[in-house]
Amino acid sequence: MCGIIGYLGNRNAYPILIDGLKKLEYRGYDSSGIAVFCNNGYKICKTKGKVSELEKKIFYQKKNMIGTSGIGHTRWATHGVPDNINAHPHVSNSHKLIIIHNGIIENFHAIKIILLKNGFHFKSETDTEVLVNLIEYIQTEHQCSLEEAVRISLNEVIGAYSIAIVERSNPNTMIVAKLGSPIALGIGSNEKEFFIASDPIPFLNYTKNVIYLKDGEMAIIKKNEKLDLRSIVNNHKISPVIEQLQINLKEIEKGHYKYFMLKEIYEQPKTILDTLRGRLLNQNGGIICIDGIELNKKIFTYAKHITIIACGTSWHASLIGEYLLEKLTRIPVEVEYASEFIYRDPIIEKRDIVIVISQSGETADTLSALKLAKQRGSFVFGICNVVGSSIARNVDDGVYTHAGPEIGVASTKSFTAQITILVLLALTIGKYRSTIDKHLYHNLCEELGNITEKVFCTLKIDRYLKEISKKYCNVKNFLYLGRGINFPVALEGALKLKEISYIHAEGYPAAEMKHGPIALIDEKMPVVIIATKNIHYEKIIGNIQEIKARKGRIIAIINEEDLQIQMLADHIIKVPKTSEEISPLINIIPLQLLAYQIACIRGKNVDQPRNLAKSVTVE
Ligand code: F6R
Repeated sequence: MCGIIGYLGNRNAYPILIDGLKKLEYRGYDSSGIAVFCNNGYKICKTKGKVSELEKKIFYQKKNMIGTSGIGHTRWATHGVPDNINAHPHVSNSHKLIIIHNGIIENFHAIKIILLKNGFHFKSETDTEVLVNLIEYIQTEHQCSLEEAVRISLNEVIGAYSIAIVERSNPNTMIVAKLGSPIALGIGSNEKEFFIASDPIPFLNYTKNVIYLKDGEMAIIKKNEKLDLRSIVNNHKISPVIEQLQINLKEIEKGHYKYFMLKEIYEQPKTILDTLRGRLLNQNGGIICIDGIELNKKIFTYAKHITIIACGTSWHASLIGEYLLEKLTRIPVEVEYASEFIYRDPIIEKRDIVIVISQSGETADTLSALKLAKQRGSFVFGICNVVGSSIARNVDDGVYTHAGPEIGVASTKSFTAQITILVLLALTIGKYRSTIDKHLYHNLCEELGNITEKVFCTLKIDRYLKEISKKYCNVKNFLYLGRGINFPVALEGALKLKEISYIHAEGYPAAEMKHGPIALIDEKMPVVIIATKNIHYEKIIGNIQEIKARKGRIIAIINEEDLQIQMLADHIIKVPKTSEEISPLINIIPLQLLAYQIACIRGKNVDQPRNLAKSVTVE
């Protein structure tokens, strides 16, 4: 969490920094700050609230932010409440050093005690202020350069960080370092102009040349000089690898949509197609061709057990993966929350596979789980959206979802892209192991080939959902029910509503309702029930009757031709029929739109829900 940005070159730094912070706000937005350096010092401005507040403050206070180097930060609070004092950048006691930091210094308390004994004082509650003063202390004690002081200090700290630090007396040098938290370096004209950011999107306008710093690396950046990359542990020189960014500027713009979330919901016919592109070749009844799977054919064919690990929405996609993989491959599958897996001393045996799923590829819990699984000898396969992310780089092999940048904090298109990959994976392994019936294989390939058109048609119910949303936007609780492969869809629908509208919502397997949650049902309780035609259909009707008998309000997702549920439900949302195995790709669409519409009617900032951040890079 937290977004960091920096610039060093010949342009005016401020517009690059403020614009960059706006693009990084998805990483945290409870406070922000900027420092711009020039030959006679620096100007700093910090404030509680969003980057727009910072921009206003700088404007009204007539802060003359002129200089060709600078750093900025948008925060998601870990240590200390969001306020002006805890906001970054942080300045050392003698005002010599200025730092921005993303991550957590776990041993900050022990270091703080030593620094306090040595006469240091602290204004903020942050671990970052401790780090900048540790660097100052070391620099004074060792009488060394800033880069040496940073290196020695970082070898003393435990935790995760991406930092950028500047010495007031030397604004043309910036030290950048990484362990755990992501950082990208943009290399501008003649390889002598530098951009730094938590992800490359803020500098896409200026350069497509990027270096992704690896854990344990430190970059010494000097204006008009070539980059010097070193190991934090032993100061050895490292040759930088410059990559070319493939992102298109259009992908990161909102266009005519009010929010990124809505844009991303509407992009799903295209993003599912992008996920399938070149992978599902629909001649001869369907050929699936994914290098990351083909290359590991033997491992997948003889797998004894699969554990899927993820968090949040990706965890819900994993549950869908469990249904698909068990049904089509007959390999036992278990789904784990990454945060639980790490602390459970998991058992991993020969021929076990671990699959990690992550949109951002930076989720700290998932990354730690991946590392633990590898330590225990498992083959780890990744399903990631962000190319070059930490998870993508650390897995043994994997596939990208190719959903394009997802900027809205609530995941939407990455969920359907993950499900698409899981269907392809289950079909491929099922074929390797001969556990899937030929007809089913061909049917599903054909259905997948037609799915984007059905998703497109489903999006048309948006206008009707607005009407339903108006009726229920002021209720306090929602229940979401589904069965089988659509139970995780109910969980995901409830999560979407919770995170952007702040209405409490629970997802349940429909049949489990009678074991407790049924007590909640009265005439005020809306129940969203996924009731598309499948093997559970009759049972779902039974569940609807149970809710009706207790006067609950039923919002049913049904197939177009269904007349039976139409007679029972208070509201029906009609979606096209498709095979049960891929029905989550359709059924989630109305739930995403319902959450979106309710949040808009309630006047919430859909792209920046309170307390959340897009990628959770702290454990
Ligand atoms: C919910 C949401 C989060 C993420 C979770 C995992 O809308 O976005 O629950 O799904 O933080 O993130 P990734 O997939 O980036 O590992």
